[in-house]
Amino acid sequence: MSRYDVARVKTGIPGLDDLIEGGFPKGTTVLVTGPTGTGKTTFAVQFVYKGAELYDEPGVIVTLEERAQDLRREMLSFGWDLKKYEDEGKIAIIDGVSSAVGLPSEERFALEEGLNVEGFLRYIYRVVKTIDAKRLVVDSIPSIAIRLREEKNIREVLLKLNTILLEMGITSILTTEAEDPKRGKLSRYGVEEYVARGVILLDFIEKDVELKRYLLIRKMRETKHAMKKYPFEITEDGIVVYPSGEIY
Ligand SMILES: Nc1ncnc2c1ncn2[C@@H]1O[C@H](COP(=O)(O)OP(=O)(O)OP(=O)(O)O)[C@@H](O)[C@H]1O
Ligand SMILES: [Mg+2]
Repeated sequence: MSRYDVARVKTGIPGLDDLIEGGFPKGTTVLVTGPTGTGKTTFAVQFVYKGAELYDEPGVIVTLEERAQDLRREMLSFGWDLKKYEDEGKIAIIDGVSSAVGLPSEERFALEEGLNVEGFLRYIYRVVKTIDAKRLVVDSIPSIAIRLREEKNIREVLLKLNTILLEMGITSILTTEAEDPKRGKLSRYGVEEYVARGVILLDFIEKDVELKRYLLIRKMRETKHAMKKYPFEITEDGIVVYPSGEIY
């Protein structure tokens, strides 16, 4: 245990909480990074879904890479019925894609076209307050830059986003890309990891002729954690981490 008992937010990812003293520090922002197809979206949605299902904590998902309806359908393959919790007011999905590609959105929460950073952040703030969310996911940072009208300095956007998240006291996951983490580049812009208080890398490693998934907790403030590669799997129930497994 840590010396000061920081409140912990259970991640809803089997095996992970044991590696980080019981969960994410409450109110913290965690970056989930890694190459394509490693499970970043699944990880992030699982955090919000399990928050609603198991811990009675409402959550907001800002989806900037796929439309809300596509995300709902994909997540059903893990047995996660997002719609059910949306109807109960425990989950809100903000569709950040439809307007950007010129499609009408029938969503309750959708970003307008041509928002600037302030408008974007204000909208998220409002939805968080509407359902009194305790958890938030933004998937993904690179797509924020693409969606916003004025392509601002991404560092400035992240700093503003982070300030608002801290102000709201909400526990958040931001996702970003890292094409080649083994060469040391942890994020798309190289600045995301400085803004986040925690960084979790999801990656593949080649073992025999197979690719194996592993997770590395690269940083987690206020938390004692090992810098070790832990195996994980994406199962039909979502992500499961194996704390005592070996990947070599
Ligand atoms: N129902 C399922 N059961 C098991 N594995 C699944 C299932 N659905 C998806 N997967 C695995 O999860 C991977 C995709 O995960 P996810 O979309 O979370 O990754 P990502 O890192 O967000 O990818 P991207 O870079 O495309 O955004 C798939 O490639 C597949 O291997
Ligand atoms: Mg994704």
